[in-house]
Amino acid sequence: MTNQPFMTLEQMDAAAEAVRSRTQHRPTIALILGSGLGGLADSIENADIIPFSEIPHWPTSTVWGHAGRLVIGELEKQVVMVMQGRVHFYEGYSMSQVTFPVRVMQRMGIEMLVVTNAAGAINPDYAPGDLMLITDNLNLIGMMGFNPLVGPNIEELGVRFPDMSQTYDRALLELARQAARERSVLLHEGVYVGLSGPSFESPADLRFLRAVGADAVGMSTVPEVIVARHGGMRVLGISGISNKANLDGNTITSHEEVLEAGKVMVPKLESVLRGVLNKLP
Ligand code: HPA
Repeated sequence: MTNQPFMTLEQMDAAAEAVRSRTQHRPTIALILGSGLGGLADSIENADIIPFSEIPHWPTSTVWGHAGRLVIGELEKQVVMVMQGRVHFYEGYSMSQVTFPVRVMQRMGIEMLVVTNAAGAINPDYAPGDLMLITDNLNLIGMMGFNPLVGPNIEELGVRFPDMSQTYDRALLELARQAARERSVLLHEGVYVGLSGPSFESPADLRFLRAVGADAVGMSTVPEVIVARHGGMRVLGISGISNKANLDGNTITSHEEVLEAGKVMVPKLESVLRGVLNKLP
């Protein structure tokens, strides 16, 4: 049953305490770096680095291209906690395990979460290497029953039935638009659809996803964002477009391609994120 195990408050607090004991920094902003985008963590100053494997209960990634460590330090004078790599549902972790890091962040006092990912373009106007500001998401995996909030609701963390009408914070969206404009970075805006993977989509899958209004497709992010909103965090999401989705059935999608595109996107993503961090009070 892939919905279980459900992580407990005690496990979240044990992990939060372990992280706190390893750094003097007290971050209020967290960043999750997706496939191929981990290089951004190299820009963190005065960094304390904690491998995921040294944090109790923290799930560790089995996927190549995900470094698997926490980098806590400063970026644009803000104290940030960066997750270099994440785990995915397709690795066999439960939804509660996949989103455990976001709960640890919540228990540590994180108020704002920036999520990034590598995604395939469904919108024909997008090209590999482009960035897309996530204005909303389509929780297809959740509609199939794999919502990270399934299971006992821990009242200390949030309400049983959280609202998702403004998942992506409007003020943060505006800051990202401004930052991209000022720094001349092309930033599309669209809907991200979260699937389980790990197989990429068939042409029929993609025609369906396009018909229901998705602009980019990936295998992460949506569960984390739901948990972050449940926990009262403000969320900003940016997809790095790593490949064009295979609508015509004539192109092959590979993980290598996804990682390669990341190299082009990291400088752009860094520029936009620095701009956003700079504009925060
Ligand atoms: N599909 C799903 N997930 C992805 C893709 C894709 O084309 N590219 C990067 N992550």
